[in-house]
Amino acid sequence: MKFSTSHFLSLAVAALIASVATSCTDPDAKSPTAAASSDKMRMEALRRAALANGAARAADLIIPTQPARVEVGRLIFESPKMSLNGAISCRDCHLDEFGSSDGLPNAVGVGGEGKGPERLDSDGRILPRNVLPFWGRGGRGFDTFFWDGRVRKGPDGIVSQFGVEAPSTDPLIVAAHLPSVELREMVEDTPRIRDAFVAEEVSDANNIQQTLAQRFASDEQIGPRLAQVYGKAKSAVAFSEVADALSQFIRHEFRMRPTTFERFVFEEGPITDAQLAGGILFYGRGRCASCHTGPYFTDFAFHSVAFPQAGFGKNGFGIDEGRYNATLDPRDRFLFRTPPLHNVMRTAPYSHSGSVSTLDQAIIAHFDPLRLVDTRSMTVRERSDLYVRLGTASRETLPSALTDREVGQLVAFLSMLEFEGAPQ
Ligand code: HEC
Ligand code: HEC
Repeated sequence: MKFSTSHFLSLAVAALIASVATSCTDPDAKSPTAAASSDKMRMEALRRAALANGAARAADLIIPTQPARVEVGRLIFESPKMSLNGAISCRDCHLDEFGSSDGLPNAVGVGGEGKGPERLDSDGRILPRNVLPFWGRGGRGFDTFFWDGRVRKGPDGIVSQFGVEAPSTDPLIVAAHLPSVELREMVEDTPRIRDAFVAEEVSDANNIQQTLAQRFASDEQIGPRLAQVYGKAKSAVAFSEVADALSQFIRHEFRMRPTTFERFVFEEGPITDAQLAGGILFYGRGRCASCHTGPYFTDFAFHSVAFPQAGFGKNGFGIDEGRYNATLDPRDRFLFRTPPLHNVMRTAPYSHSGSVSTLDQAIIAHFDPLRLVDTRSMTVRERSDLYVRLGTASRETLPSALTDREVGQLVAFLSMLEFEGAPQ
């Protein structure tokens, strides 16, 4: 399924919204009936804009899973045996209480202890990126993974560091292969391990994963179930089964669910004044939907927003070159995958480096990034990085200045994207 909306269509909808928005600020429209009918028009305009931008019902995006595989996947997801040193599980960074991320700007990987912010007091290795949540990952058409899109399904198949040997045609399964072999994430960054990686690259990752698969196969609780649900002898269980089970778990547990916005668009459900105003801004003058579009509120493309950078950065010394790390194409410097927006209320802090802590600030970063930083306290390097990123962001179709009230309305609108009945 393909969701991209033609730019022309969004422009037409934006024009429609603009005309409706002006007509309802008409000072003559004072009588209660006139106000009610203009609200009705605005609601209809918002519904149409949402549909033109690919809004879909959760039920139409869900890819079915097999309950027995989901349950094995859950056990693996929660098991510290997933890491080479046996001390860190997927769950340590993807926590229900932080909306399947960890509440920290940068993740604390191997060596860390405790949950969420407690991990900061431990000895864990800092991972230079903000943990991504899982909502809708594995849904129909969700084809691009990680902040830099280093796993991506294109017209010719999966593009990833596995090259032509991608372990699956399902991008979520390919993505589930990566964390267990990422340095600092689940593998200790010691000179010995680093040398082994550098020397042998993928084949060494294969060795680690074979070791992990055998560990799960001989685990009393997990082994027999894993073998049974995949119809294999325990000794024949490979990492592809482990990754498949993990992806079944993620695909099921974090599947799309109805939201207040879905109810509003498809069932004429309720909406508050602030949410309505925010929705009109989102698809209209705020230009949000030129990137946050489609059923997951992302175009699955790469853009530049000059968020402040925090932490060490993927490229070191406080710099993260984003998509460039995956493509080595200089035009991709400082671009990041447009983040999906479901449950965004629950996944603070925001941006690839977790540098801003509230949704208001995250929105402000799009049109007034300098308001969020104190350039006087920056090092020369930080300042020059910021100016380069302001340059790349200036080539994007970003919103022009919004008032604090409008930012508040956008936040109210985003709150409509929270799933009903998601794990917490
Ligand atoms: C040390 C913390 C940590 C652990 C442990 C961890 N992750 Fe993550 N996860 C992250 C971070 C940070 C990102 C974002 C990284 C990036 O995009 O560069 C992420 C991103 C992901 C994504 C991509 C989501 C998206 O929106 O594209 C998937 C899938 C994922 N993790 C699965 C797993 C699985 C499966 C495990 C266990 C095998 C795991 N993670 C263990 C920190 C962690
Ligand atoms: C030009 C494309 C583009 C436009 C237009 C745009 N965004 Fe974004 N947005 C992004 C990208 C890219 C990021 C992540 C950047 C990063 O992490 O460095 C982002 C980040 C965010 C985040 C933080 C999400 C998270 O999980 O960290 C929120 C919230 C957000 N945008 C909302 C909005 C709203 C509301 C608007 C309209 C006022 C808007 N965006 C307009 C591309 C865009």
